[in-house]
Amino acid sequence: MRIDVLTIFPELFPPVLASSIIGRAAEKGVVKVGVHDLRDWSGDPKHRKVDDRPYGGGPGMVMKPDPFFDAVDALTKEGSQGKPWVVLLSPGGRKLTQEKVRELSARPWLVLLCGHYEGIDERVRQSLADEELSIGDYVLTCGELPAMVLIDSVVRLIPGSLGDDQSARDESFSLNLLEYPQYTRPADYRGMRVPDVLLSGDEGKIAQWRKLQSLRKTKSQRPDLIE
Ligand SMILES: C[S@@+](CC[C@H](N)C(=O)[O-])C[C@H]1O[C@@H](n2cnc3c(N)ncnc32)[C@H](O)[C@@H]1O
Repeated sequence: MRIDVLTIFPELFPPVLASSIIGRAAEKGVVKVGVHDLRDWSGDPKHRKVDDRPYGGGPGMVMKPDPFFDAVDALTKEGSQGKPWVVLLSPGGRKLTQEKVRELSARPWLVLLCGHYEGIDERVRQSLADEELSIGDYVLTCGELPAMVLIDSVVRLIPGSLGDDQSARDESFSLNLLEYPQYTRPADYRGMRVPDVLLSGDEGKIAQWRKLQSLRKTKSQRPDLIE
C-alpha cells in the first residue's frame, strides 16, 4: 500500500513512522508512506503562504484550496497506481471506526489531507476529497495527529504488518465485541490472582471463558455495539 500525507508540519511524522509496527511494515515493504510539505505547492516561493482570511469575516485563517488541488494533481501524475483515494481529516467528517479502517486497509493508495487554523476551504471537501473522516467528537489544533491515528490503525491491518495476523482477527471491534481481559505472569500479584481457567490448559474452557468475558465487558462498557 502507498500512503501520501499533505501537511504543513512534515517534521512531526518521522518518529511515528519509523517506530514499532509501522516502522517494521515500511522496512518490509508492506507500506510506503510519503510525507509532503504542502507549502511546496503554495505558488508563493517567497512567503510560502497556504492560508488566507475567511470570506464573510470571522476569526482565524482558512487553508487555501489551490495548494491541495495542485499537490494531489502532481502526486497523481507522478504515481503509477491510477487515482488515489483522497481522505480529508476533519472534525465534521464521518467517524473513523474499525470497519472503516478495515475498508481503507484494502485500498492500494491513500492521500491524507491535514488541515490547520480554522480548517480548509470547503471546495476541497466538495471536489477533491473522496471522503471526510473524523477521529472523534472533539477538536484538535491540526490534522496531523488524526492522520497518524489513521495510518497506524490502517497499516497494522495490512497482511504482513503484525507478527501474527490472528491478533487483528481476535481483538476489540472485530466481531462487534470488546476483547476479553488479558493476563500475564505473575499468576498472583499483590493478592490478585489470574483466573484459574487460564492456568488450566483446557483450550475449550479457555475459549468459552473468553467469549463470556468479551460479551460481559461489551454489555457493561459498550452496549451500543451489541444493539
Ligand atoms: C482547529 S481544526 C478546525 C476546526 C473547524 N473550525 C471546525 O469547527 O470544524 C483544524 C484542523 O484540525 C483537524 N482536526 C481537528 N479535529 C479533528 C478531528 N476530530 N478529526 C479529524 N481531524 C481533526 C482538521 O484537519 C482541521 O482542519
